[in-house]
Amino acid sequence: MNMIDIILKKRDGGKLSQAEIQYFVRGYTEGSIPDYQASALLMAFFFRGIDREEIFELTNAMRYSGDTVDLSDIRGIKVDKHSTGGVGDKTTLITAPLAAACGVPVAKMSGRGLGFTGGTVDKLESIPGFRTTLEPEEFLRQVNETGIALIGQTAHITPADKKIYALRDVTGTVENLGLIASSIMSKKLAAGSDAIVLDVKCGSGAFMEDQQRAAQLGQIMCEIGVAAGKRTVAVITDMSQPLGKAVGNSLEVAEAIETLRGRGPEDITQLSLKLAGIMIYLGGRVKTEAEGQIMAQQALHSGAGLEKLKNLIIRQGGKGEVIDHPELLPEASMKREIVAGSSGFVQAIDAKAVGLASQHTGAGRLTKEDAVDLSAGILLRKKVGDKVSRGECLAVVYGNNKNKLTSAQKEAEKAFSIGKEKVEKPQLIKNILGL
Ligand code: URA
Repeated sequence: MNMIDIILKKRDGGKLSQAEIQYFVRGYTEGSIPDYQASALLMAFFFRGIDREEIFELTNAMRYSGDTVDLSDIRGIKVDKHSTGGVGDKTTLITAPLAAACGVPVAKMSGRGLGFTGGTVDKLESIPGFRTTLEPEEFLRQVNETGIALIGQTAHITPADKKIYALRDVTGTVENLGLIASSIMSKKLAAGSDAIVLDVKCGSGAFMEDQQRAAQLGQIMCEIGVAAGKRTVAVITDMSQPLGKAVGNSLEVAEAIETLRGRGPEDITQLSLKLAGIMIYLGGRVKTEAEGQIMAQQALHSGAGLEKLKNLIIRQGGKGEVIDHPELLPEASMKREIVAGSSGFVQAIDAKAVGLASQHTGAGRLTKEDAVDLSAGILLRKKVGDKVSRGECLAVVYGNNKNKLTSAQKEAEKAFSIGKEKVEKPQLIKNILGL
């Protein structure tokens, strides 16, 4: 077997065998296959497509390319949750404590921000002292003792995905359904939970903008999960405008705390309860998803979810006082207001433009090596459908660097469209697959 024959086969529309896919994944991970050949194959996948069996094989080859996590020492049905990436998406900080407060063990590995989208690990690191790295034994012990641990993914898990993803990022091969599905599911399966809830985003701030394509992605990911013996549910949700009002690491932690207090924006509250309800159902705590919702709601209203987040923060070395005093989170030294140029109704807030603006404040990375400014970001004052008057504040941009703030402000201004017609708020939850 050799790489040139594999590239030619796919280039000409052929179907790769299990052995060929394994040969590529192993060789590229070990370094015996060079970037240029891997890039050629990825582009051939992109144009020729990848069928179901090939997606399954690619997922499996990447899943077993490094360590896999054994969670069998943790009692109960472990449920994982994953978002395909969005702007202002802090649901993990809310759903994971809610599910854990309802008795579902959550042993979760999360990622960092990618491009204009945020990542849970960066958000957690805005909590002073919070450790996102735990030794494996400590990770398992903590989940058994407290019901929850949130950490960053270790370098030893799915190294093939790490390398292939980095290459896709710079070769124009990210937005492919089979490549995205196998990338996400290889990590989820290697992370060892018994059931998985996927939040598949659609709209301008998502990798799959089109709702139908997002549903196809959700469907194939459910099939991969089920084929691996895991109950998997995909919720297709709106990412045409940012989720909630806060975008940026410490700003989002503060909003997650407010939401767990029952005072969060409507959309983030609704989605977090939906996802937590499904986690509680898949975790076997209730008989129906509707009962899961009620249980999640009770954990929110009783404050049990907030208490769980506080315990998690303290257990992982963070300052638990941030729960009652969010002003202890990093705060930016400068801010700029975006104001409405005309009166009317907010027609749209382009999630991608807000994500890019947030990235420009320093809240995200422009190059892989960049350090993240944990206090920077954007707070929306208005959402789609809201009435505005000329000169009224639409959003506040926060940061610590004048030039970055200026470029972020320019980006953020592009995000808002204001018009005379009344508009409906976009439907948040479009579809649920696999329930
Ligand atoms: N997130 C991933 O982990 N992989 C992709 O390919 C896209 C989003």
